[in-house]
Amino acid sequence: MTRPRRGDTHELAVTGLAFGGQGIARPDDFVVFVAGAVPGDEVRATVTKVKKSYAEARLEEILSPSIDRVSAHCSHYGTCGGCRWQSLDYEVQLRYKEQQVGESLERLGGLKGFEMRQIKAMDHPWRYRNKVEFSIGSVEGRLVVGFHPPGRWDAVLPQTECHLLPLATEGVRATVEEWLRNVGAEPWNPRDHAGYARHLTIREAYGTGEILVNLVTAPGALPDPTGFVDTLRARHPEVVGIMHATNAGEAEVATGMPFQTLWGRSHMYETLGDLRLKVSIDAFFQTNTRMAYVLYETAAQEAALTGDEVVWDLYSGIGSIALYLARRARSVLGIEVVPAAVRDAVQNAVENGVTAATFLEGNARVVLKEILEGRLELPLELTRPDVVVVDPPRGGLAHKVIHRIAAAGPRRVVYVSCNPTTLAPDAALFQELGYRLTRVTPVDMFPHTPHIEAVALLEPVARPSADE
Ligand SMILES: C[S@@+](CC[C@H](N)C(=O)[O-])C[C@H]1O[C@@H](n2cnc3c(N)ncnc32)[C@H](O)[C@@H]1O
Repeated sequence: MTRPRRGDTHELAVTGLAFGGQGIARPDDFVVFVAGAVPGDEVRATVTKVKKSYAEARLEEILSPSIDRVSAHCSHYGTCGGCRWQSLDYEVQLRYKEQQVGESLERLGGLKGFEMRQIKAMDHPWRYRNKVEFSIGSVEGRLVVGFHPPGRWDAVLPQTECHLLPLATEGVRATVEEWLRNVGAEPWNPRDHAGYARHLTIREAYGTGEILVNLVTAPGALPDPTGFVDTLRARHPEVVGIMHATNAGEAEVATGMPFQTLWGRSHMYETLGDLRLKVSIDAFFQTNTRMAYVLYETAAQEAALTGDEVVWDLYSGIGSIALYLARRARSVLGIEVVPAAVRDAVQNAVENGVTAATFLEGNARVVLKEILEGRLELPLELTRPDVVVVDPPRGGLAHKVIHRIAAAGPRRVVYVSCNPTTLAPDAALFQELGYRLTRVTPVDMFPHTPHIEAVALLEPVARPSADE
């Protein structure tokens, strides 16, 4: 195929899966991404976008389905876009995730010679999300609490089921939707920035079953807040906190807004191994608790602690990795930028009887500089880490952070990554600074979606001597 033209329809053989989950066809070596297609499909697709080196096409018809296709669990499959891979056999999803981690490290990072471990799969890969953010909108004049269809920030789909959510969370969604309709709440319209009800966040702890509910509206008192609280408590005894947040801005965000606690508390407790963790409504916590345990255990194995090490946990959130490792180490130091998360971490240390844990609030890049320059009042031993664990957001590590970690000279760096495309260049920079990528273990935190998590171990090429 010469470069296709927008609007043309082609029959394509799909042979690969891209990051982000689209099928890839390569007619005459020209790459065409087809959303909704999986490897092995023969499809008819219409070209919607043409760039210099690739095109995008809309799936019109599956002419011959891949043998790896399975029937989707959810009636919203195809319109919702939330778990794009649920029509792909779970074992096949796992193989693609492994392949994508390996390929990105090799191609984007130029890395080789590392051990690529088999992905850690989830046993019952459904109903695993402990947090969900719904949008509130209108369909044919009726308020709905649901998800945006792919690429449509201004529309919300009516929702009857989501197989990634626990059943109680689904029930809370339906209750809030019904209540908002009963009180005549006006759904938000993001196009003209008008309306009232905007988002609904629900968190449900896997270990304790506790549920938090946060309704986000435009400024203005909630109609009948007592009725809202009474309805939720009567129908959902697992609810431990009900909040009302206001978003006065135009941005479509559901977290970080000022909120009022209408009833109960603004945090829930989650369990992880033998830890009991306080999770505030807006604090980051791994969304799949069962696999968070597997992730942290993998990180712990790579940290290879003997009980005598100083461990830094950078991007520590509510302190979960630091506290998970603390009992196997001499002391841990967590660094986190969100003040509420740091407060949770400090309290979590106390409530779990961990005394050798220190948490600092601030940007990791800046705090590391202050530590290296001796500008923080810390016990000397805490400034010399044996092991550094990093768990940054999707954008990965700032170059200065990598330089500063290398300057601190740990014997091991355990990199927990939710994005192999940033892990790859970060690991390459570590390599330039004398740390080689030893091993990578993908962990399937997000079954039925293209998202990939991996734990990478980096070790000094030549171990620094004690007086270096
Ligand atoms: C992927 S989460 C990891 C949290 C924690 N390790 C866990 O497993 O729950 C990333 C964390 O980094 C924090 N963060 C983002 N940018 C940061 C920065 N520049 N410095 C320190 N923390 C940051 C976020 O608030 C979030 O808590």
